[in-house]
Amino acid sequence: MAKSGNSSASNPPRVAVAILAAGKGTRLKSKLPKVLHEVGGKPLLAHVVAAATRVLPASDVFAIIGYEAGRVRGTVAHTGVNFVLQSEQKGTGHALKVAREALSPYDHVIVLSGDAPLITPQTIARLLNFHLDQHAAMTLLSAELDNPTGYGRVIRTGRRNNEVRAIVEEKSASAAQRKIREINAGFYVFDVAELFVYIKELSAVNPHSEYYLTDMAGILCKAKQRVVVWKTEDAREVLGANTHAELAIIDHQMRARKCYELMAEGVSIFYPGSCVIDGDVAIGADTVIEPYVQILGKSRIGSGCRVRSYSVIRDSEIGDGVLVRNGCILEGARVAADAALGPYSHLRPDSHIGEGAHVGNFVETKKVKLGKGSKANHLTYLGDAEIGEGVNVGAGTITCNYDGVHKHTTTIEDGAFIGSDTTLVAPVRVGKGSYVGAASCITHDVPEDSLALGRAPQVVKEGWARNRRASRKEMIQPKKLPRGTSFEE
Ligand code: UD1
Ligand code: CA
Repeated sequence: MAKSGNSSASNPPRVAVAILAAGKGTRLKSKLPKVLHEVGGKPLLAHVVAAATRVLPASDVFAIIGYEAGRVRGTVAHTGVNFVLQSEQKGTGHALKVAREALSPYDHVIVLSGDAPLITPQTIARLLNFHLDQHAAMTLLSAELDNPTGYGRVIRTGRRNNEVRAIVEEKSASAAQRKIREINAGFYVFDVAELFVYIKELSAVNPHSEYYLTDMAGILCKAKQRVVVWKTEDAREVLGANTHAELAIIDHQMRARKCYELMAEGVSIFYPGSCVIDGDVAIGADTVIEPYVQILGKSRIGSGCRVRSYSVIRDSEIGDGVLVRNGCILEGARVAADAALGPYSHLRPDSHIGEGAHVGNFVETKKVKLGKGSKANHLTYLGDAEIGEGVNVGAGTITCNYDGVHKHTTTIEDGAFIGSDTTLVAPVRVGKGSYVGAASCITHDVPEDSLALGRAPQVVKEGWARNRRASRKEMIQPKKLPRGTSFEE
């Protein structure tokens, strides 16, 4: 049975997670707290919270917050995790000191870094199990990096065992220690009782004048407590984001991971390095994603679709067999099966595009229902409109939905035909099967099966142009200049 503080043999150990998230992130030179900087479409801290809450219930997860605490709390509060306030940030060791009361009911605490978002639930669980198996007071996760600069280095007691004598921070390390490529990943498991017996021995006499949590390794080792290390194979998981360059590297890793997951599910991604796909996006098999596509937020794309280059799809749902041609922008839109969009369509929130419908070149939609098989193929604005099935919306049609104060609805019933360059001044209704002549301005309802013409009658003046040309010719007849005259004279 693992050593587990106050738990008895029949009770599993009580385990908490503490996430260090109180720091400012000085190296980012940003007003935004470090843990709220985004990678993979979500704040750093949201990734760490998601991994933690897949290992333990949110009620056992404690985020230690300080810099811009309100803002940080607001970002992850919906997950149900707890918060501990570290109002002055005096170092990673100090962060755990302030969490003492919150953690005292637990036997073990897993410590995660709020700025290292690639950590997986599997690795957290393996680290915990290793700690319990090893009966350790402190277990740390390490990785071998080609370039260990900036990280704390792991000093083992011997080559063969997994016991640790100390962790040395980069700034305090000797030249020989800096050559060590095994780094402290910043993830630990502590026996809570031992941690709080010895944490008072931390001192802030170091180049940063901070209480380093990493010094607990040396302190516990000297006190004959067991400190062990488990080295992960996948060094990418431990990357921390301290600078914008590191944020970019982590974002890239995360995007790549997502693309390969999708490809394993049967999605074709032609040029994954160029596509930006957020972690929560779902895409069905046999869908093809062309280069330079962004699929963001909670978007869902069915199977057998094709998304052509330079399209950006955010928080939208797309059915099976949909073609999204080049350069479309979708935000909060719903597109039913077999519809075709673009090139260059802009679907704004609450655009519901029906099955097999077409939305084409430079068409903007907002709060619209476009029925099954209906078409709006060119240069059109459809806002606050209910459009039935089998409707043809001609090029350049505009729904005039806004009177400067209120929005009004345009209704176009099944099978209607709206001629090109029509303006529909809402509130207005075009009845089932009706025709609206091209270039009409429709201000009154059109009953079913009628033809509406809302344009000035055409006037034709025969011969007018010929006469005009003739009279202009007379007027602009050039004066004859004597031969050899130059214009400078
Ligand atoms: C830390 C480790 C280093 C390790 C690296 C791995 C220490 C002293 N060093 O360095 O050995 O290689 O992580 O990424 O721990 N934080 C607080 N309160 C504070 C200070 C920091 O909550 O008072 C939080 C930060 O917001 C951050 C985390 O702790 O999320 C780590 O702090 P950071 O300053 O990034 O430590 P590193 O210099 O990266
Ligand atoms: Ca860090």
